[in-house]
This record gives sequence, structure tokens and C-alpha cells, in this order.
Amino acid sequence: MRDDIQLRYGTVAMIFHWLIAALLIANLALGLYFADLPRGDWRTELGQLHKSIGLTVLMLSVLRLAWRLTHPVPPLPAGMRWGLRFAARATHWLFYVLIIGIPLTGWIFVSASPVPTIFFGLFHWPNLWFMADMPRAQKIPLRETFNSIHVVLAWAAIVLIPLHVLAALYHQYIRRDELLLRMLPYRRTRVETMP
Ligand code: HEM
Ligand code: HEM
Repeated sequence: MRDDIQLRYGTVAMIFHWLIAALLIANLALGLYFADLPRGDWRTELGQLHKSIGLTVLMLSVLRLAWRLTHPVPPLPAGMRWGLRFAARATHWLFYVLIIGIPLTGWIFVSASPVPTIFFGLFHWPNLWFMADMPRAQKIPLRETFNSIHVVLAWAAIVLIPLHVLAALYHQYIRRDELLLRMLPYRRTRVETMP
């Protein structure tokens, strides 16, 4: 067994993980709810909230990715087969694609909309320049495409999150390797890792 400190995620990684997880889940629910509402003030207000939370997720996720690429993560627990190790790593990287891709596609398609984005009621969030200046005939199909990609990626997250949670619970309670504890503060961990 190696030194406890190296076997845990750092404080910054944990803050990014739980903050983004909470905002992502909240925004998935909010997106599904408001998108089906009839047009009106209530829908517009919730839409602005959805866009503001989503753009916050985008900024946090870019910072998180930069952090992830420049800081080591604890190695995977020992005794995981090749397939499981691959699945764990692939899921983690796919999550990075989603936490950046979902809000980015949202930002792209609302940039072609006449409705401005007001960030938490504070200021006008800028539209992406290449969508804003595009002729209408080009803009509309592109908006539809990115709207569809936004929804498909959101559904990919809806599928992946329960699998990720089940994997964490499987490690914690069936394999009993205490993997969950390394993403939680104030806990000592005894995860045995790959040599
Ligand atoms: C955490 C990030 C985000 C998540 C998880 C998310 C998720 C969703 C979901 C699940 C829907 C409902 C799709 C449907 O059933 O039609 C939706 C719709 C929508 N999202 Fe997002 N979204 C995020 C970020 C953003 C951002 C950053 C923007 C724009 C700046 C945005 C703009 C919209 C709009 C305008 C709709 C309504 C689309 C319509 O009426 O068809 N979203 N989003
Ligand atoms: C809902 C959105 C979530 C996203 C996008 C997400 C994403 C991630 C990512 C990318 C990692 C890898 C760490 C890294 O490379 O930075 C990770 C690790 C982890 N996540 Fe999540 N996660 C989410 C929710 C949850 C939830 C609800 C749980 C609770 C069971 C959880 C438990 C864990 C654990 C225990 C690890 C550490 C795995 C290890 O030690 O290798 N995650 N998560």
C-alpha cells in the first residue's frame, strides 16, 4: 500500500467534480422541464436560468480540464481487468467531452437566436461571432443541427451518469476497495492501486 495522500483526489479536483456534477444534474432537469413549457414569460425566465447555469458549467469545465491535464490523478485500484480499466478511463474522458460539449453546443445554437442571453440577470452574454454574422439561410439549419446535438449529448449524460454512479457503488460496496472515499473529503482511504 502506498502513501495515503497520493491515493486521493486533491481538493481542487473534488470541488470541480462535485460542483459540476450538481450543476449538470440540475441543468439536465431544468432543460427537460423548460423546453416543454408553452412560450411565455415563465419559459423565458427559466430558459435564461438554464443558459446561465450551463455557461457556468462551461467555464468551470474548461478550468477543470486544464487542471486535469496538469495534475496527476490517483491510479486505478489494483486487480481491475483490462476491460474495466478501459471502461473507467473511457467514461471519465467521455464526461469531459460532455461537460464541455453540452454547454458549448447550447451556446452555439442560441448565438443564432434573436433572444439575447442575460447571464444571471447581470449582463448580456456575447453571441458567438461566426453564428451572429451568418446569413439567415445558413443560420437556421445550423441552429437546428446544434440544437439536436445539444439534446443528444444531454441524453448521453443522462445515460452515463447512472452507470458512473453504479460503478462507484460497485467499487465501494461489492469490490469493497473504498474507491468512493477518494473523491470525498475528510476520509482516509485504503485503496490498493495498480503497481
Ligand atoms: C450543463 C449544461 C447544459 C445541460 C445539461 C443542458 C441540457 C439541456 C436539455 C436536457 C434540454 C432539453 C432538450 C429537449 O428536451 O428538447 C436543453 C434545452 C435547451 N438548452 Fe441546454 N443544457 C446545458 C447548457 C445550455 C447552454 C449553455 C445553453 C445556451 C447558452 C443552452 C440552451 C438551451 C436551450 C435554448 C434549450 C431549449 C431548446 C428548445 O427549445 O428546443 N443549454 N438543454
Ligand atoms: C453527474 C455528473 C458527474 C460527472 C460529470 C462526473 C465525472 C467524473 C469524472 C470525469 C471523474 C474522473 C476524475 C477526473 O479525471 O477528473 C469522476 C470520478 C469519480 N466520480 Fe464522478 N461524475 C459525476 C457524478 C458522480 C456522482 C453522483 C458520484 C457518486 C457516486 C460520482 C463518483 C465518482 C467517484 C467515486 C470518482 C473517482 C473514481 C476514481 O477514483 O477513479 N460521480 N467523475
